[in-house]
Amino acid sequence: MTERDHPTPPAIEDWSRLLEGRVAVVSGGAGGIGGAITELFAQHGAIVEFIDIDAEAAERTAAAITADGGRARAHVGDVRDFEIVESFAAEVLAAHGSIDVLVNNVGDYRPLARFRDSSPASWKEMYDINLFHMFALTRVFLDAMIDGGGGSIVNVHSVEGLRGYPGDPVYGAMKAAAAAFTTDLAVGMGRHGIRVNGIGPDLTQTAQVDYIGTSVGSEHLWGSWAPVGRLGWPEDQARVALFLASDLSAFVTGHNIPVDGGTRAGGGWFWSPTENRFVNRPKGL
Ligand SMILES: NC(=O)c1ccc[n+]([C@@H]2O[C@H](COP(=O)([O-])OP(=O)(O)OC[C@H]3O[C@@H](n4cnc5c(N)ncnc54)[C@H](O)[C@@H]3O)[C@@H](O)[C@H]2O)c1
Repeated sequence: MTERDHPTPPAIEDWSRLLEGRVAVVSGGAGGIGGAITELFAQHGAIVEFIDIDAEAAERTAAAITADGGRARAHVGDVRDFEIVESFAAEVLAAHGSIDVLVNNVGDYRPLARFRDSSPASWKEMYDINLFHMFALTRVFLDAMIDGGGGSIVNVHSVEGLRGYPGDPVYGAMKAAAAAFTTDLAVGMGRHGIRVNGIGPDLTQTAQVDYIGTSVGSEHLWGSWAPVGRLGWPEDQARVALFLASDLSAFVTGHNIPVDGGTRAGGGWFWSPTENRFVNRPKGL
């Protein structure tokens, strides 16, 4: 076999239309990080089929994309319900035959239960909203993706699945399981042309996590909270999702990328404005 006989990276025809004509499914695609992903994917030429529990937000997001010349269809439903997931997949597959991209984005840390106050009911709640639907959506689309020649799966979990999270270890465990599912699935699916990668967000302003509203008066501390020195935006997450969904990452699979402004990398180190250096034992708390 000569060098010429080996497959090469797929050609990128238009760098501003990285998902031209591709069918992308996004869960929780009406708002927050999922909303930014839906919007950016549509800007890059994808036909986005998204599902969201919030009917009004879903309608608004789809209408805004269509008004901008993009293609997006809203489906209203709760991805914690397998029957709903199945009928959503049936509708999408009836329209397109297969899909090219699946983004499993839904997740929530609320209601937060400290482990000593937790119960079988609260463990199940964390499982349903952070993990169950990832299995469900992947299961209902995977065969079609394989038959259709492959694609990319992007799982949005959390930086808390990639580090120790004292707030709620059950939430952290669900996110860590989502990261492990990502890696495990990737190894078996590569031969079918399917790549699977994950994103672990942190510090990103959304309806779920209001960093702006909860840090009024302490904004000068962003330099200590995140090595990059600023708050994150849904767009920051969406750009990484675009990279993972598109052929830009054709040789990347099985990885979980913290999209966290450096919090995981800098874990344990804090910028001290008074000492003008990083400290690992801040004295100001
Ligand atoms: N924002 C952050 O800093 C941050 C940090 C860590 C992890 N995350 C993770 O990122 C993902 C997105 O978070 P976000 O901050 O954008 O959340 P968000 O709550 O602001 O948005 C979630 C979207 O999903 C929809 N949704 C919620 N439950 C649903 C359900 N059962 N079925 C269908 N749709 C549903 C909501 O209506 C909303 O549009 C989640 O998995 C979350 O755990 C976010």
